[in-house]
Amino acid sequence: MNHFYIKDNNLYAENFLVEDLAKEFGTPLYIYSKNQILRNYREISQPLVNSKLDYINCYAIKANSNPEILRLLAEEGAGAEISSGGELYLALKFGYLRNKITFTGVGKTDAEIEYALKENIFNFTVESLQEIQVISEIAHRLGIIARISIRVNPDIDAKTHPYITTGMKENKFGIDSRDIIEVFRSSSKMPNIDIIGIHSHIGSQITEVQPYIDSVTYLGGLIEKIEKIGVNIRYLNFGGGFGVKYKNVLSHRYISSEEDEIVQYASLGEHIESVIKLLSGFNKKLIIEPGRSLAANAGILAGKVLYTKQGEMKKFIITDTGMNDLMRPCLYQAYHQVVPTVLKDTGYETVDVVGPVCETSDFLASHRSLQKLERGDYFAIMTTGAYGYSLSSNYNARLRPAEVLVDGDKHYLIREREKVEELHY
Ligand code: LLP
Repeated sequence: MNHFYIKDNNLYAENFLVEDLAKEFGTPLYIYSKNQILRNYREISQPLVNSKLDYINCYAIKANSNPEILRLLAEEGAGAEISSGGELYLALKFGYLRNKITFTGVGKTDAEIEYALKENIFNFTVESLQEIQVISEIAHRLGIIARISIRVNPDIDAKTHPYITTGMKENKFGIDSRDIIEVFRSSSKMPNIDIIGIHSHIGSQITEVQPYIDSVTYLGGLIEKIEKIGVNIRYLNFGGGFGVKYKNVLSHRYISSEEDEIVQYASLGEHIESVIKLLSGFNKKLIIEPGRSLAANAGILAGKVLYTKQGEMKKFIITDTGMNDLMRPCLYQAYHQVVPTVLKDTGYETVDVVGPVCETSDFLASHRSLQKLERGDYFAIMTTGAYGYSLSSNYNARLRPAEVLVDGDKHYLIREREKVEELHY
């Protein structure tokens, strides 16, 4: 059972009524379950531990970089996948070991490269030949050896939303597979560069194992070619991207169920096992970079209904939370289940659940069949632990929500609601 569940028509977060938390801390409020995060982390780690493979599990901290969540995963032994100097700062501040930090991204600035080199991070995942030249120059000036992995764009369809597909030839990520051998050859001769690995991250919210099998098989073939030109690959990194369930997360007689176009979701264990099987032939160390799969189903966003309004074509449920707190619906038309904190037998009505922001795209759920909601009712937007708060903004000078972590019958305010004085003018 998930740590967010329904009992006696009430929504719970571990041992707490979500409605009580919403009243105590106010809304909008992100609520995270410590035990769900730990369960997710262990579900990914267990097959790796059992396989006896040498691996580093680098949490993609962009998914959720609340300090307490960072600390929690660092204490479990996670490394960090970072994509900016800011994320490096957070990773170091909240307990990640330098020898488990890997820095990805197509646009690292000179200052970020210098910062990461001086901090002696484990690996730069590089995405262009020019970037490798810049790293080489800066490392040479500092008298430091930079360890790099080269990211290849394998042109594999991850079968996910086009905005979160990263491994196809029209995407900006990685180095074109036609050039890759040449890039390995020329960068192996650059000063102060130690090529340690190969990387590919083909996208996010991948629900089938086949794209991983294709990507790792492709990397295996490339490794053979690269080693023939005299470059020794020690690490194989196939990124993150494991998908989670967003539809019908909770089911109940007062919750209308949705048709899900994804019939079968591969479990975390299945994703990892499929790759482990292939890797046993390679004798390489493995790096993975999960983000969403650790945090998404460990968080919800609680909000409150401000007004209801019947338009000519639609009924609107106007709430105190919107696109500035949760960007995914407006950015990717992402679906998140909306669950009232107290379930009632009111029958269903079809509504748009919208926020207070001055944009038509400020919706949380569109054309959704929900129990009748009234002013003052509380509800939760499910599966928002990843890319929820971390994508939030101050648009309309709105204040970022508070965040609470629950752990059994204990709860902790892990980030206060922003205050107007904290807005940057
Ligand atoms: N590694 C690299 C190099 C990445 O770019 C990402 C995510 C990850 C790992 C982690 O992927 P995950 O396991 O979380 O799928 N904002 C979007 C997702 C963007 C993902 C960006 N890169 C969303 O809300 O769906």
